[in-house]
Amino acid sequence: MTMASAPGKVILFGEHAVVSGTPAIGGAIDLRARVTVQDMHGCLLIESGDLTLQGFTFDLISGQVISAGAAIATRYISAVLKELEACNLRITVQSDLLPASGLGSSAAIVVATAAALNAHLDLCLSLKEIASLSHKIEKSVQQGLGSPMDTALATFGGYLQVSGVVEALDLPPLDLAVGCTRRPHDTRSEVLKVQTLRKRYPELVEPIFQAIGAISKRAVPLIREQRLEEVGELMNINHGLLEGLGVGTRDLGELVYAARGSGGAMGAKITGAGGGGCMIALPGLNSEAALIASLRQAGGAAFSVRTGCEGVRLEEGP
Ligand code: PMV
Repeated sequence: MTMASAPGKVILFGEHAVVSGTPAIGGAIDLRARVTVQDMHGCLLIESGDLTLQGFTFDLISGQVISAGAAIATRYISAVLKELEACNLRITVQSDLLPASGLGSSAAIVVATAAALNAHLDLCLSLKEIASLSHKIEKSVQQGLGSPMDTALATFGGYLQVSGVVEALDLPPLDLAVGCTRRPHDTRSEVLKVQTLRKRYPELVEPIFQAIGAISKRAVPLIREQRLEEVGELMNINHGLLEGLGVGTRDLGELVYAARGSGGAMGAKITGAGGGGCMIALPGLNSEAALIASLRQAGGAAFSVRTGCEGVRLEEGP
């Protein structure tokens, strides 16, 4: 039996504008997907649990599906098995990450599966090869869409800046609150929506992209120097620009305003594609519990995360 785990991620700054080449910054978080591989003839069994503690099971032999999350996980795992020509295995997934919510759940599952198979089958793939194979698999399952951010963060951990090339950033950890609308989002349709807006109003949308890229650049030294009030201000500006691009929703807005109001956050913004999914907030001094409570009161699922966490790793079996 071989077990590997890989982290999810949040995008701190720069989503959507990154599609047109300006920089975005993401951090691996301390919520993980764990994948176990065991030899078993003619079997693929996937089990998972998520943050709402609603576990699910999907059995390919009985054909029984008890959750959309299981179907998503199965699609990605099957693609990894096919790519690595692996069969006769039992695969078990335990994930802390809500699927389709912008927390990098599918990338964490793909990377953890690839790493577990790599060790179990002695494939001798390097981390770089796992990252690039996982990006290729995620992109093919998502029909051509997917920046390398999620799979690279799931593999290497820490922080990354993406702007055409992927660069590691050496930054200290940040403690954030995540507020989740519980509405799954569709990254593809949000990206298409923004790109359509850009075609219709290039003279308006291009400057928004440039401003978002400038925020990402300014944020890096501020995070490094722990100037959190200014980091919070940049989060607020970035959120306003994402609203301008049309990816805000009422639910996300309510969570953002609850975080900044009764939650005492220094800053709050959508994280990821928007249109549902999650927002992140930077707690004010001593206000993390109040922040989580405010997000829950505003109707979100809320939890704390730390950014800059470790990438994929092999785990001791149960
Ligand atoms: O839905 P997420 O969190 O994976 O966010 C996608 C980020 C975008 O910038 C909107 C798209 C991309 O590929 O970078």
